[in-house]
Amino acid sequence: MPKRYTITAALPYTNGPIHIGHLAGVYVPADIYARYLRLKGNDVAFICGSDEHGVPITIKAKKEGVTPQDIVDKYHAIIKSSFEEFGISFDNYSRTTSKIHHKTASEFFKTLYEKHEFVEEVSEQLYDAEAKQFLADRFVIGTCPKCGYEEAYGDQCENCGTSHNATDLINPKSAITGNTPTLKETKHWFLPLNKYQDFLQEWILKGHKKDWKPNVYGQVKSWIDDGLRPRAVTRDLDWGIPVPIEGAEGKVLYVWFDAPIGYISSTKEWAEREGKNWEDYWKNKDTTLIHFIGKDNIVFHCIIFPAMLKAEGSYILPENVPANEFLNLEGNKLSTSKNWAVWLPDYLKEFPNQQDVLRYALTANAPETKDNDFTWKDFQARNNNELVAIFGNFINRVVVLTNKYYNGVVPEPSKFSETDNAALNEMKAYPAVISSAIERFRFREASQELMNLARLGNKYLADEEPWKTVKTDEERTKTIMYVALQIASALSILSEPFLPFTSKKLKGILKSSELKTELTWDAVEANNVLLPAHHTIGKAELLFTKIEDSAIQLQLDKLEASKKANEAAQSTVEPQKAQINFDDFTKLDLRVGTILEAEKMPKTKKLLVLKVDTGIDVRTIVSGIAETFSAEEVVGKQVTVLVNLAPRKLRGVESQGMILMTEDEQGKLVFVNPDKADQVANGLKIS
Ligand code: MF3
Ligand code: ZN
Repeated sequence: MPKRYTITAALPYTNGPIHIGHLAGVYVPADIYARYLRLKGNDVAFICGSDEHGVPITIKAKKEGVTPQDIVDKYHAIIKSSFEEFGISFDNYSRTTSKIHHKTASEFFKTLYEKHEFVEEVSEQLYDAEAKQFLADRFVIGTCPKCGYEEAYGDQCENCGTSHNATDLINPKSAITGNTPTLKETKHWFLPLNKYQDFLQEWILKGHKKDWKPNVYGQVKSWIDDGLRPRAVTRDLDWGIPVPIEGAEGKVLYVWFDAPIGYISSTKEWAEREGKNWEDYWKNKDTTLIHFIGKDNIVFHCIIFPAMLKAEGSYILPENVPANEFLNLEGNKLSTSKNWAVWLPDYLKEFPNQQDVLRYALTANAPETKDNDFTWKDFQARNNNELVAIFGNFINRVVVLTNKYYNGVVPEPSKFSETDNAALNEMKAYPAVISSAIERFRFREASQELMNLARLGNKYLADEEPWKTVKTDEERTKTIMYVALQIASALSILSEPFLPFTSKKLKGILKSSELKTELTWDAVEANNVLLPAHHTIGKAELLFTKIEDSAIQLQLDKLEASKKANEAAQSTVEPQKAQINFDDFTKLDLRVGTILEAEKMPKTKKLLVLKVDTGIDVRTIVSGIAETFSAEEVVGKQVTVLVNLAPRKLRGVESQGMILMTEDEQGKLVFVNPDKADQVANGLKIS
């Protein structure tokens, strides 16, 4: 029975383009799901849009010296076209700076306000006196009170996923000036989540949400078990939706209050355009609401947004929130600021028309139950060994042979052998197998089952060898080719959610649109005949092409360059000390010396007692280098010695000078010494 679905995908922040992590975590699985449901004949609203408020956008604008509006206009366009290019089939892609969204979010707030669902409270909030600004959300960084991560934001810790109040942070620092914030009183409106504790407990923990993914259920349970507290839903910021009540001048809605309402306003925009009733998709109990998100969004979609919807009273709640874990890239966390990412616009430039390859590689290796690593080698292997060698190879053989033997006309089969029947029956089982995986949000498994269908086709051809039978048995050859063509056709249908571009191309090659009956998902299950005899197919075209090592190396080189640039940027240079004059400098007597003897100072970790030939004399110098160097390895080294430093006693041994050192990026000590290649005389002055 067809059903009505509202499927949402997290609204991306418009402070940069999107990368493979976004695609793998949210948009590809959501798209597979939406495409699949449509193919099954359901009524689907697949909804998204740009999340254009919030502090990250203001910070980006400040950095670039432009307005927040400039930033969101730029990235909204870039992100929207990336989604289109990758075949993410949103029914509507809106934006939260739109009029309809401002109106919808303001009205939502007003409704809750009038229902007295908020607690109004003057409290002390973090304030940066130098920047003359309250420090909300990402304007403040500090230690997470839950997991101890030192770079947690004011509203959320990206390490453990918890969402907290900025005043909960330990050692908060302003992200604007680096100052320690002070506290300043300000009025805000709070959503008393504690009031929803029982409802959430009932709905999620005792309800039928046990079948939610364990990562999602676990996080939500731990949140609820910790006890819920009121959360401010307004902020002292100037970028956002103005709080629509009197006495709230200069305040805006918290971005996590307005953004999820963006799903609703985007649905309204779509319904208006398509002549539908938006309320069917949000207020009808027969509608299934599913949120696709990344794991850092879990609390907002499983606790805060449901509490908002519940408080409003007329909305349905999500049936499932299949959040993914994170995708890493070549062993490291994806990072925008470190440019450790594969950006979609870059990918398309370097692998033109190969969207399906990325979709497939990301799905086959999706971070469904744990964080997962994307590697370019795996990407290459998925393409060369699966898409090219199995799927593409099978289709190519079928199409080429059909053209060669029968001028492209599907032959009339004679009696099916046992293997033919077995192959056709196996083929007919795939829709159910793939459906079941998709409906359980196991997209990796689903993609592998699709590939297994191509494997079936490949094996069938390899076993039946029509290129041999064609010389001996015309009737048998026709039957083999007929069966193979049915499998090719099944692939064109079942691949659509995963590989939409390939599916379209394949349907074009098979000229499926010229058939009398439409090829649906269910038809594959029900029929032996997908491509009837006498139907004419087109010429072969390559579906996939091999990716060479050189193309992969290019990507690895790019990442290597990012790594180098990061290391350079990270080796933070200390600020210069106060100026000195030339006389100050000449007071230092720096000489070349050679270490003659060395011995560890007993009962210390760091100290070596050295005998150094300074050219002037041989003297004792105590040096704190034992953690980097052993006594043996420093003997014979030429070093720079400050010889006129006043002697001082260290652990009872008088040190008569100092050896100059520096530290490398790993904190290892390095001698400041004359190049070993051209040894110089001890005692030479350094100036
Ligand atoms: N912009 C958020 C992020 O990228 C997601 C917002 S989802 C929504 O993490 F529900 F608020 F829309
Ligand atoms: Zn944390």
